[in-house]
Amino acid sequence: MKKILDLISEEMMQAFEQAGYDRALGRVTLSNRPDLCEYQCNGAMAGAKQYKKAPIMIANDVAAKLSDSEVFEKAEAVAPGFLNLVLTDTFVGDYIRGMRAEEKYGVEETTKPQEIVIDYGGPNIAKPLHVGHLRSAIIGESIKRIERYIGHHVTGDVHLGDWGQPMGLVMNELKVRSPQLVYFDESYTGEYPAEPPFTVAELEEIYPFASKRSKEDEQYKADAMACTYKLQSGVRGYRALWQHIIAVSVVDLRRIYDNMDVTFDLWNGESSVRDLIPGMVEEMKANGHAYISDGALVVDVKEETDTKEMPPCMLLKSDGASSYATTDLATIKMRMEQNKPDALIYLTDKRQELYFQQVFRCARKTGLIKPETKLVHIQFGTMNGKDGKPFKTREGGVMRLENLIQEIHDEMLCKIRESRETSDEEAAATAQVVGLAALKYGDLSNQASKDYIFDIERFTSSEGDTGPYILYTIVRIKSILAKYTENGGDIQSVFSDIKAPVNDSEKQLMMELAKYNASVEAACDEYAPHRICAYIYDLANAFNHFYHETKILAEEDASKKAGWIALLALTRDVFETAIDLLGFSAPERM
Ligand code: ARG
Repeated sequence: MKKILDLISEEMMQAFEQAGYDRALGRVTLSNRPDLCEYQCNGAMAGAKQYKKAPIMIANDVAAKLSDSEVFEKAEAVAPGFLNLVLTDTFVGDYIRGMRAEEKYGVEETTKPQEIVIDYGGPNIAKPLHVGHLRSAIIGESIKRIERYIGHHVTGDVHLGDWGQPMGLVMNELKVRSPQLVYFDESYTGEYPAEPPFTVAELEEIYPFASKRSKEDEQYKADAMACTYKLQSGVRGYRALWQHIIAVSVVDLRRIYDNMDVTFDLWNGESSVRDLIPGMVEEMKANGHAYISDGALVVDVKEETDTKEMPPCMLLKSDGASSYATTDLATIKMRMEQNKPDALIYLTDKRQELYFQQVFRCARKTGLIKPETKLVHIQFGTMNGKDGKPFKTREGGVMRLENLIQEIHDEMLCKIRESRETSDEEAAATAQVVGLAALKYGDLSNQASKDYIFDIERFTSSEGDTGPYILYTIVRIKSILAKYTENGGDIQSVFSDIKAPVNDSEKQLMMELAKYNASVEAACDEYAPHRICAYIYDLANAFNHFYHETKILAEEDASKKAGWIALLALTRDVFETAIDLLGFSAPERM
């Protein structure tokens, strides 16, 4: 279905043409003065030079051609040469009825579906998830859903950090604590125990402990690096122990992501490409891209136009261990073979900007990707506390993701209990759904690249640009529809009965609804979920305004009432589809 702005522009372009002017001047835009008009066209101003005429004369000529337009109720030429536009009620009503008839409410699927791999989540085995992983998960999940909705084939990969130095740190500490464990006996040839020698809680305690100690104790750090090397070079006991670490962590990670409604198609990790690394490195040496510098194997990625320092991309450290970049490059190689992607999208904190520039340039230069393959790094800003500094616990430590989710949940539960009587069970279930919406909307409504302030009080508020406000609006619509049914109405039978708007607030609501396809398509093209947030916030405001101005269920004119019910059902469906694209849902009651 065409976008409403395009349809209006076509009508205007035709008028320019009929009046003897260039069609292209007829492009219509949203109004700068909503108090005066709904849309406007500035083409007469732009054409003044070309036609050596006062803009107002051109505008008058064009307006005259629109006197009996079915699109414009009013097309008024105003000094110095603007065209102020108001749409006809029939045109708006017809457009909305058209949306109802379409499966995706006017959004057109792409005719060129792309193969896309999205790399998001990026949790590290044995290290607790922190708020940085939250942003990756929330934004990545939404982008995945949006791209799929438009018709692209998307594979989401969690890309576990399971192959680097943290693994060595954990294993070394296990060795310090329990040197008798069979995994460390390199002469052992039997089977290893099926049960892990630690719990998830122990694992989580070990990593921060070992990480801290390695910063203070050189020998300890060297031992940990030796463990990493043993793991990477395939020493049996270390591999077996590592398998346990992965298994225990992944169960826990899946639980946390499930609770956030974040799902991955692939649970690959940095380790998944370990066997590809030697061959890839050899190839890069053979074709002359990789060379030894200060003992390390590197690829130059500088370009002439660079204005800032661009260090080379490191493939092998001087001790022969592979680096973060090596695993990312080998992963690109694997994805190119397995998924044949048109685009690879990565979500990380903006502090990895330079790193991804190096990796992308290296992948291009060494021919790991095709010239036309798109590599996209979507970098997000930091989630700050109210003090404007990176979010911390009250004690000043790194906030664990689970604790943060728990805080939002508890706050929501409190608010729900204050607002009405419910069973404990229902209150908890509602707090779960609404809390997740509060958290996700609080994040997604900001442009991803910007830092934002995590403010539980604001995020969980039912007023303002928040998740709970959106959900309250949806629940309000659902409850009106439920009452209509309780009173004997049949929503299904009036489903397509959308009529021309009868009052201004209804028209405003319809005009907001009509922007759905343009907003979703913009969100898809720009990988920008905040576009959808902005859309539903405007839609919620328009709906609530209409709701306060209109006695829907008390309306006596059955046909009018049917039209409103149909409009409400469409509004609900658009809302629910949009929040699903953002990665959350609405409860039946709040
Ligand atoms: N594990 C990394 C971290 O916690 C993020 C991984 C991002 N993805 C990637 N392909 N490098 O910082």
